Amino acid sequence: MPDFAQKVALKPFNTFSIQAYAHWFCTFSSVDELRDALSKINGRPFLILGGGSNILLTRDFEGVVLKNELRGINIIDEDEEHVFVEVAAGENWHEFVLFCIDKGWAGVENLSLIPGTVGAAPMQNIGAYGVEIKHVFDHLKAVEISSGKIDTFNNEACQFGYRESVFKKSLKGKYIITSVTFKLNKTPEFNTSYGAIQETLIQMGVKTPSIKAISDAVIHIRQSKLPDPKEIGNAGSFFKNPEVDKIDFEGLKSEFPGIPGYQLPNNRVKVPAAWLIEQAGWKGKTFGEIGVHKKQPLVLVNYGNGNGESIKKLAFDIQESVRRKFGIELTPEVNII
Ligand code: FAD
Ligand code: EPU
Repeated sequence: MPDFAQKVALKPFNTFSIQAYAHWFCTFSSVDELRDALSKINGRPFLILGGGSNILLTRDFEGVVLKNELRGINIIDEDEEHVFVEVAAGENWHEFVLFCIDKGWAGVENLSLIPGTVGAAPMQNIGAYGVEIKHVFDHLKAVEISSGKIDTFNNEACQFGYRESVFKKSLKGKYIITSVTFKLNKTPEFNTSYGAIQETLIQMGVKTPSIKAISDAVIHIRQSKLPDPKEIGNAGSFFKNPEVDKIDFEGLKSEFPGIPGYQLPNNRVKVPAAWLIEQAGWKGKTFGEIGVHKKQPLVLVNYGNGNGESIKKLAFDIQESVRRKFGIELTPEVNII
């Protein structure tokens, strides 16, 4: 396979900063290059890599890593209220958010500072501070791996849920997302009700909100809570926040009166995994090169030379202790490779 580089170190390509090697590695910066690379894979396993901010590498990858470098942002339509922007999947998510703020296009400001690429964002319907990508998503284009043809998926076809989409379920491993089109608002509808946004805007002396001020507030909150992958390796929340039936939540509440819960439709309650993990005694614990972050126990960290297998084992031990103490199953959000 002449076009593929061999034995490439992946440490610079994953935010956990895990050292692992790709047997073969190549980048693609056009759909034709992607199709060409797919045609040379010859049945070997392969991994599509964006910014590597939602993966845990537990071993060398004995196949082909295809790194997405598709670039370009284009307005494809607009009306009085909206602009439809098609963004190539390899664009950096946060840079795209800043681009929108600069243009005055509203809708993605609450999603500031999420690492990774635009193309990976629909994979798990990224979300933060009361907004998910599904709220601003119009459609995406993706290459079907088996045929090389491009299919278009609208919002409904993506089956977005909490950190979920059809690409993590029935279409897992079948498509490579090549562009995402967003429907953004020319007139902003501010969403400041979640978490500490309002409080932070006040602290920042903001009297009239703007999309720039909301983005700045979100960046400020995130920087105060989450470790910067450039300093400490991590992949954001390692687990999803679990959901339980209301009746089970009431039972837990009588045993653990401090347990927080957010009411969902259909008599379900979302419980913060960070609280469960902290109560199970893990917050700030360090085990050699790896650990549980001291400010946010939902984030597992690599302090330098940790390996993926030991982080996976730590995650397993956390799951086990939360299961034993609360009877709640934690599901990883991070893709374990
Ligand atoms: P990668 O890690 O490269 O890939 C993730 C998965 O998607 C892999 O399975 C990969 O094979 C697949 N994939 C990637 N690109 C494509 C493509 N084009 N087509 C098909 N499959 C593809 N997430 C949130 O939702 N909210 C947050 O607030 C948040 N905060 C974070 C904070 C930090 C500090 C970190 C490190 C992560 C955070 N995350 C958050 C998780 C992460 O940023 C998102 O999941 C992001 O969308 C991952 O993008 P990526 O390009 O890095 O994906
Ligand atoms: N908490 C504790 N102890 C702590 C920290 C938090 O008990 O040390 C509890 C508190 O009850 C707090 C609650 O956890 O109110 C929620 O904490 P936080 O607001 O930090 O949010 P989170 O549930 O930990 C989720 C997302 C984040 C997203 C933020 C903001 C998931 C799995 N995580 O975190 O997404 O940025 O809300 O919307 O849904 C990611 O997906 O990688 C990610 C970082």
